[in-house]
Amino acid sequence: MMLAKCRQKRSLPFPLTKLTLATLLKVCSSQPHQLKQIHALILTTGLSVKNSLVTQLLTNQVILGDVQYARKLFDEMHKPRTFLWNTLIRGYAKNDMPMESVSLFRNMSSLGVRPDGFTFPFVVKASTELPESRAGLAIHAHVVKYGLEYNAVVRNELMMMYVKLGDMGLADYLFETMIERDLVTWNSFIAACVQMGYASKALALFHQMGLARVKPDAVTIVSALSACSQLGCLNIGNKIYESAVNDGMESNIIVENARLDMCMKCGSSHMARTLFDEMHLKNVVSWSTMILGYAVNGKSEEALALFSRMQNEGPKPNYVTYLGVLSACSHAGLVSQGRAYFNYIVNSNDQTIQPRREHYSLMIDLLGRSGHIEEAYSFIIGMPIEPDAGAWGALLGGCAIHKNVKVGQVAADKLFELGADIASYHVLLSNMYASAGRWDYVDKVRLKMRKKCIKKVAAYSSVEFNSKVHMFCSGDKSHPQSSSIYQKLEDLYIQIRSLGYISEVGSVHHDVEMEEKEAVLRVHSEKLAAAFGLINVEPKTPIRVMKNLRTCDDCHNFFKFVSRICMREFIMRDKSRFHHFRNGICSCKDFW
Ligand SMILES: *[C@@H]1O[C@H](CO)[C@@H](O)[C@H](O)[C@H]1NC(C)=O
Ligand SMILES: [Zn+2]
Ligand SMILES: [Zn+2]
Repeated sequence: MMLAKCRQKRSLPFPLTKLTLATLLKVCSSQPHQLKQIHALILTTGLSVKNSLVTQLLTNQVILGDVQYARKLFDEMHKPRTFLWNTLIRGYAKNDMPMESVSLFRNMSSLGVRPDGFTFPFVVKASTELPESRAGLAIHAHVVKYGLEYNAVVRNELMMMYVKLGDMGLADYLFETMIERDLVTWNSFIAACVQMGYASKALALFHQMGLARVKPDAVTIVSALSACSQLGCLNIGNKIYESAVNDGMESNIIVENARLDMCMKCGSSHMARTLFDEMHLKNVVSWSTMILGYAVNGKSEEALALFSRMQNEGPKPNYVTYLGVLSACSHAGLVSQGRAYFNYIVNSNDQTIQPRREHYSLMIDLLGRSGHIEEAYSFIIGMPIEPDAGAWGALLGGCAIHKNVKVGQVAADKLFELGADIASYHVLLSNMYASAGRWDYVDKVRLKMRKKCIKKVAAYSSVEFNSKVHMFCSGDKSHPQSSSIYQKLEDLYIQIRSLGYISEVGSVHHDVEMEEKEAVLRVHSEKLAAAFGLINVEPKTPIRVMKNLRTCDDCHNFFKFVSRICMREFIMRDKSRFHHFRNGICSCKDFW
């Protein structure tokens, strides 16, 4: 249609004037190809076309995503004004070309063209995507130089930039000294904190926002719920949701899905299911959240049952759904089912379920965990995409369980080669060598870690109580209730020892003295968190412990015994899965 119109115009008998060209431009504004023809037309007519027409062309090309062509037009122009520089800077930024965006800004400023409030938001954003992440600091200096530091949009972007750089002090400063803080500002700050993993900060801001009497909307609530997921604080999350709804927030499917996700990530698949069943409208995200949530909570049967229900009455599954399905198979050790699902998605013509890295890693996890180490190894070698640290790490995990040092060594070498965050694999690696009696290798790993200056991430655990998140690190004595926590721990030890608990000192490195080893184990952060929970959390309520790293064999064993003697359910979320301890048994069936 459009095309025909444009052609018609071209063959009109009257001569091309600026007006006709302008009309043509308007009619063809969404047709990149036609726009190029118009450009050619302008060049052939020899009309002294005003910059305004080309400006229009350039803007359109940028909007349509053809930055290369826009750039051509830009280069033909005589002394382009700020507006055009901005257009191109924005075009680069929006089309994943942050380097060009920032470079163009630098060129603009070295040519003495004055940037304005529309220049900076995009340059600042682009600067955070550069490999030299601190490039934005110089741009901040320019913002100040041109007196734009109080421009709300620019300031917002700078604030987000500092969150991304991890400089919360400066981000806070920019936020606090903002002249006007509207909902958008609050929302973007909170969202940025959540995205970068500053969940406590996000919740503090959310609280502060309430005090400032800014009413949250659905966007705010999604961020707040997601912060609660990260922290594992179910009650706080539920309160936030309820009070927002009571306050007139209109919930929507995105909020409801965030709530499902929060329940699952706090280990409450029951509550998630109730909410899910009550939802009038469910989309593929709702179903996938449930399936994946069941899987990481060790409820594989529920996950697979829901998946078959989805196939009958739900929306079409996507690749996330299949992550849940494969993860369920992996947790339950359903090797042949896992293979079948994987083959199905690999051979499917449906682009939306094509396997990605995560699917491959899950398959390797499933094969390795179930003892099919050689098959897992051939699988990783045959991958059509370059295996990443996730894949090799999964293989290493399997090798550690089944004490296959030969393949484990290959995986470990690959992880070193990839420069992966070795600290998180260190325990696996040490365990594998230690269980095979290869202390020489355990030392080598440690040496390598030291050489690369890789620090182990400090382990910590947290428990939510009384609308607060209580954090503990290993051997922590800073909590106000510290003395009763340690007393409780002593009592627990006496009780569980009488039931046959023995500390598994194998989880501590061999060069530590036997007694010392035990002392280290006794005060692991999750144990302190458990004791704190037993003192404070009301009886018969499950105690939820969130751990930032993988839990050790000894703590796992400790929780099993304690769940039995205290007749209390413990739900522990570690780095990659949940452990539901009830009456001496863990839902992970001792594989994690
Ligand atoms: C900025 O100028 C330099 C030097 O003239 C040039 O090499 C570079 O391509 C320019 N950057 C952009 C994005 O145009
Ligand atoms: Zn431990
Ligand atoms: Zn477990």
